[in-house]
Amino acid sequence: MSKLNNKVAVVTGASKGIGAAIAKSLAAEGASVIVNYASSQSGADKVVAAITAAGGKAVAVKADVSVAAEAKGLIDAAIENFGQLDILVNNSGIYEFSPLEEITEEHFHKQFNVNVLGLLLTTQAASKHLNEGASIINIGSLSSRLTPTNTSVYSGTKGAVDAITGVLSRELGARNIRVNTINPGPVETEGTADFIESDFMKEFIAQTPLGRIGQPGDIGSLAVFLASNDSAWLSGEQLLAGGGMR
Ligand SMILES: NC(=O)c1ccc[n+]([C@@H]2O[C@H](COP(=O)([O-])OP(=O)(O)OC[C@H]3O[C@@H](n4cnc5c(N)ncnc54)[C@H](OP(=O)(O)O)[C@@H]3O)[C@@H](O)[C@H]2O)c1
Repeated sequence: MSKLNNKVAVVTGASKGIGAAIAKSLAAEGASVIVNYASSQSGADKVVAAITAAGGKAVAVKADVSVAAEAKGLIDAAIENFGQLDILVNNSGIYEFSPLEEITEEHFHKQFNVNVLGLLLTTQAASKHLNEGASIINIGSLSSRLTPTNTSVYSGTKGAVDAITGVLSRELGARNIRVNTINPGPVETEGTADFIESDFMKEFIAQTPLGRIGQPGDIGSLAVFLASNDSAWLSGEQLLAGGGMR
């Protein structure tokens, strides 16, 4: 039996990469999915087409999660299209790396606005609609604990995601809403394509016990686990998803 029948999910940043894989994985288990994008409409349309071709239900919705009205509109789209909301995956994220001396206000605000403020805005809007048994899944990063050089701002955003996951698991726990984080190691996506062959990545892979880079589907299956009742006793948890790297 499918694990997410009759559930409705919003996946932010689902036009490509990890978010696209999560949207497809949730839909394959029966969830109806809102496929959010900020600029890549064609990517989001392809994800929706793949889901519907496989017999699932999905709708693409444009929204910049760092703008409160748009984050609210994204959540409202789930109610308008599917009548309820059970699963929120906060995946939208920007990663840019910079040594300390080159950090600018723009570099800081760009990443914190999407990776942290955006997550809070969508969760705030979703909270009003989520019922008992709902699941919120935040996509953090192993970088919050590995703290690689030149990632002060990015790793800072993901440290904030870890902390917010713990806080919100307490605030929402009384309503039996679970909040967990998946913290991936390097994953091959459109976003990492430019530096997949870099020494930085090779070093990561060399340190990975399972000896390869992650694939988006590796994270999709973990999202299904955290969305489903299989993880009913997990909240405030950080799943380290890096092939054994920690
Ligand atoms: N790939 C990795 O190695 C890795 C490792 C650890 C953690 N992560 C985390 O996993 C998540 C996804 O990473 P990825 O590699 O799949 O990224 P990606 O391929 O660069 O895709 C990023 C997604 O975020 C969306 N996005 C960007 N700004 C947005 C905004 N303001 N509002 C809504 N959506 C926005 C993009 O939408 P548009 O394309 O429509 O603009 C896109 O769908 C991020 O949170 C990242 O930090 C990734």
